[in-house]
Amino acid sequence: MHTRTVAATVGALLGFSALVLPTPAAQAADSGTSHGPVVVAHRGASAYAPENTLEAIDKADELGTAWVENDVQRTKDGELVVIHDTDLKRTTDVEQVFPDRSPWKVADFTLAEIKRLDAGSWFSPDYAGARVPTLEQYLKRVSANHQKLLLEIKAPELYPGIERQTLRELRGEGWLDWYHVRHKLIIQSFSADSVKTVHKLRPDVKTGFLGTPAVADLPQYAAFTDQINPNYKTVTPEYVAAVHALRGAHWRPLELFTWTINDGPNATRLAGYGVDGIITNTPDVVREATEGDAADAGSGASGSFSGATAP
Ligand code: G3P
Ligand code: CA
Repeated sequence: MHTRTVAATVGALLGFSALVLPTPAAQAADSGTSHGPVVVAHRGASAYAPENTLEAIDKADELGTAWVENDVQRTKDGELVVIHDTDLKRTTDVEQVFPDRSPWKVADFTLAEIKRLDAGSWFSPDYAGARVPTLEQYLKRVSANHQKLLLEIKAPELYPGIERQTLRELRGEGWLDWYHVRHKLIIQSFSADSVKTVHKLRPDVKTGFLGTPAVADLPQYAAFTDQINPNYKTVTPEYVAAVHALRGAHWRPLELFTWTINDGPNATRLAGYGVDGIITNTPDVVREATEGDAADAGSGASGSFSGATAP
């Protein structure tokens, strides 16, 4: 049965109806948009600390940013790690440590090998010794900081089964209980198939599709995702309105988080378009420009379905 049908059926059984669903305005308030868009620290506060490291999460926390975004991939020996590029060259010293291992793909290195790499010096000597974190380490630190996670499954075509594995790890770290699903977690990908897989495996989890589908195609996406998350250069007020006109996979207004805005004027402009979230390397700049309250911003669109399938 389609999730939306499930939602309607569950709602009917529990005595809910369309009349008690939140209005867009109420939904906006729940998402923090009455104070400005939700501010998400892209790869952590990556303008100030090396991207996708624990240090970048801590920096976001120091700046009062509740939401962090990351990128999840898999090592040769099957461990989930947090890194953006599909090779290790740009953000580690892999070429020095393993000079004969070109092209230095993440998937060609074991976790033990990746743990030897310095993931901070490329950014600044102040961060020498920072490591590529495992997803488990990353989740523990986000939890310790009481932050929220926009988790991106990166290049899933390279890692068959990564959706189920990611969900299993999230569950093991306590991230798939009702509270986390309702308030703390969104899973996104550039791959519609990957987002669909997450939605199928765990229909309760809030999801996002990275990209700018044609307006005519948005209803197809709304069937399996809660957010459309486009590059800000592709966003117009009309596009935001078209997204908001639909209800997403949990039968709440479809949301739009846009990326990557690092300056005040563009943040102000896109906030004026009514976007629900801004993903940024400079969360302090965006918050200042939009008067968003990152610390209080919540994710209001997560549905909660007791019949979720455990991964
Ligand atoms: O969350 C949006 C953004 O992360 C997508 O692009 O390349 O930085 O993963 P990328
Ligand atoms: Ca990303």
